[in-house]
Amino acid sequence: MVGAHEVYKKIVGMQMLVEGLAMGAFATFFAKSHDPLLVKLCQLVMTDEAFHHKFGKIWADRTIPKLDKSEQDVIEDWAAQCFQTLLFNLVSAEQMAVVYAKFGINPVAAHNTMLEAITDDDRKERMKESTDIFRVLIKTLLKAGIITDRTRALYAVYVDMDELKSEGDHMVGDDIAEEGIKYLQTINFAQGKGSLLSAAAE
Ligand SMILES: [Fe+2]
Repeated sequence: MVGAHEVYKKIVGMQMLVEGLAMGAFATFFAKSHDPLLVKLCQLVMTDEAFHHKFGKIWADRTIPKLDKSEQDVIEDWAAQCFQTLLFNLVSAEQMAVVYAKFGINPVAAHNTMLEAITDDDRKERMKESTDIFRVLIKTLLKAGIITDRTRALYAVYVDMDELKSEGDHMVGDDIAEEGIKYLQTINFAQGKGSLLSAAAE
């Protein structure tokens, strides 16, 4: 993604996938953390992240229908390639070698053990959760028309594609970000110094 020269590669890879991954990751912290400060921090970061991600969706909605079939195929293949790289980067023991070394764990052995222990069925089970980052990514690509029958099978290993399609455009992070914006408005648009401070204190 960093080395790519094509604009579509940057936007699909960064705005749609990586920013989508950020939304999913923060939504997970927001939903699972017991620390109120971390929950609030995630919400406020998400109010910013939501717009980075939305830009990618707007670009896709306006651009992809106007491209010819061969160009659409190139984008679809690129998205599939990025998705797989992201998925395996995050779950692969090889990426954790530095951490494992501190605890005397051999990353190759750990990798092999994880391959045996974590199956596609396990991943599929985890991706049923609405906050799961990869579910959010697949939904983003599907709704943008970037997943067609050409690559559908790749994603269908992990999620029920028909269920995802029928879910509507609503994303798990949208509500969290919207609440965050309302909260910021109470601070930014509060009249006078006193109410500004009291809103911030809340
Ligand atoms: Fe971002």
